[in-house]
Amino acid sequence: MTSDDEAFDRLLEYVEDELGFATSYYDDSYLDRRVSSRMRRSDTESYAAYLDLLQSDESEQEALLDAFSVNVTSFFRNPEVWEEVRNVLRALSAERDRIRLWSAACSDGREPYSLSMLALDDPEVKDGNVRITATDIDREILAAARRGVYENTRTTDIGEQLAPLDEYERYVRRTDDEFAVTDPVKDLVSFERHDLINGDPKSDFDLVVCRNLFIYIDAEHKLPILETVSKSLSVGGYLVIGKTETLPDTLKPAFEPVARRLRIYKKVDTTSIR
Ligand SMILES: C[S@@+](CC[C@H](N)C(=O)[O-])C[C@H]1O[C@@H](n2cnc3c(N)ncnc32)[C@H](O)[C@@H]1O
Repeated sequence: MTSDDEAFDRLLEYVEDELGFATSYYDDSYLDRRVSSRMRRSDTESYAAYLDLLQSDESEQEALLDAFSVNVTSFFRNPEVWEEVRNVLRALSAERDRIRLWSAACSDGREPYSLSMLALDDPEVKDGNVRITATDIDREILAAARRGVYENTRTTDIGEQLAPLDEYERYVRRTDDEFAVTDPVKDLVSFERHDLINGDPKSDFDLVVCRNLFIYIDAEHKLPILETVSKSLSVGGYLVIGKTETLPDTLKPAFEPVARRLRIYKKVDTTSIR
């Protein structure tokens, strides 16, 4: 191990023990990219020097924690996935009296609000029976999610993100470049903080959407997270993971693919879930 590696490990240990972010569960090269970007911003040349800075500067601690939880998201991210999610909601609505959905790692709320808009928009989905729980580890992003106000930027076109809906104006109030989600959309969603690594499983969900988190998590910790998520589903419930993510082999017997390419699965058995 080089002295550079040792200094990097000491830095991660400090972040885990003193700042409470479980670095040991995340992929090292992902963490290194985030740390290196903070080092460039703060003109620090070595991990050891950056650790000194971190120990003495609370605003840098916050900046690093912010950099670790990447919150990139959008309404109807990968629209083709949402076409199939619409079918799943229809199927659930036809067979169950109440439908409980969980957007796990929901970021700024655009994912659970997409679920809510879809439920309100589709005449085959009884939206009165739908309740959505939306969770994330990051308190600040949850505050933004509860506000539910999104802005066009140079790189983000909110109107375009909402295009899968025929008339998105029914679900957002637009003022210039700002889009505020309306109360009926918000009323179906409750936000709460939940850590998918250290938190307990939930129970009896009919659909769990847990997308684009595993890309940051190191291989050995993906399974416990997916087990938590899988335990939270009722038998016959559906799981949606990110389009570039995969289900570990040990969990495959518990699920039957509904749309393999879109990473949508139905839970058919519980025996392979620890
Ligand atoms: C890239 S966003 C994904 C947002 C949304 N699911 C999507 O696909 O658009 C990843 C989210 O995971 C959250 N996150 C990271 N670690 C987490 C953990 N241990 N438990 C819960 N959420 C976590 C981050 O705060 C961030 O908001």
